[in-house]
Amino acid sequence: MNQNGYAIDYVNGEIVVLRGPIRNNDVYEIPNHLERLKLLLISDTHLACKYDRLDILRYLYHKAEDIGVNYILHSGDLTDGLSGRPQQLYDLKESSYEGQRDYVIDNYPQSEIPTYLISGNHDLWWVRQCGTDIVKDICLHRPDLHYLGSDCEDIKIGKMRVRLFHGKGGGAYAKSYKLQKYLDTIPLEERPDILQTGHIHQAFYMKQDKTHCFQTSCLQDLTPYERSQGFNNDKSCWWVDVIFDDKGRVNTITPSLETFGDKLIRRKR
Ligand SMILES: [Fe+2]
Repeated sequence: MNQNGYAIDYVNGEIVVLRGPIRNNDVYEIPNHLERLKLLLISDTHLACKYDRLDILRYLYHKAEDIGVNYILHSGDLTDGLSGRPQQLYDLKESSYEGQRDYVIDNYPQSEIPTYLISGNHDLWWVRQCGTDIVKDICLHRPDLHYLGSDCEDIKIGKMRVRLFHGKGGGAYAKSYKLQKYLDTIPLEERPDILQTGHIHQAFYMKQDKTHCFQTSCLQDLTPYERSQGFNNDKSCWWVDVIFDDKGRVNTITPSLETFGDKLIRRKR
């Protein structure tokens, strides 16, 4: 059941249903011998919401294949989840666990480029609702999507360390605030080369010490709820070029932000 995404544990001879996901400090390692890597960083797709933007997602995967992207990283809120706020039902294409799971399995772009994902707070509402991490479940049905864990997970691509972090809670007075505060909590010896965060739905980049920090915005139009709360929202992604030195260490990291408007993207292959 654990392998299928259920948040359960075996304690003193009894199976216990957990109220949150099981967390670990494992580092997922991907060997790398290339001198140059291209990454696409995305987040907060909120699929199965009426305001999701599958058109942008499809455009990005086509473009990623055209320009030779090696890995796609997704920092959480793959699905819109089910919050318990009654009005959210009016914003959903699918309101059941199975509906949202199957919607993503059927509609998330298929690609030969591997995508690595964590679950975000919207995905994790399903753990509270029905005891299952929906992102883990989806990845079991899609071999091109790789589940890393919930909230916060580290990957090493060759010698480059990348941390995916989602975050939770309300907005801050400045869009950079939560990213800066979070970076401060990571011990210096544990700091990654790339820190990719989600949740805020607004793009921001900064470099501090050796860490290139990418706050990845969303791929979802502003919902009526967000508008009523005065939340901001921008749709964008980061294209990232990494060049390694002759010892395989990160030499340069070059970010490029691509933004999107409300107009539907139609692109022929
Ligand atoms: Fe989100």
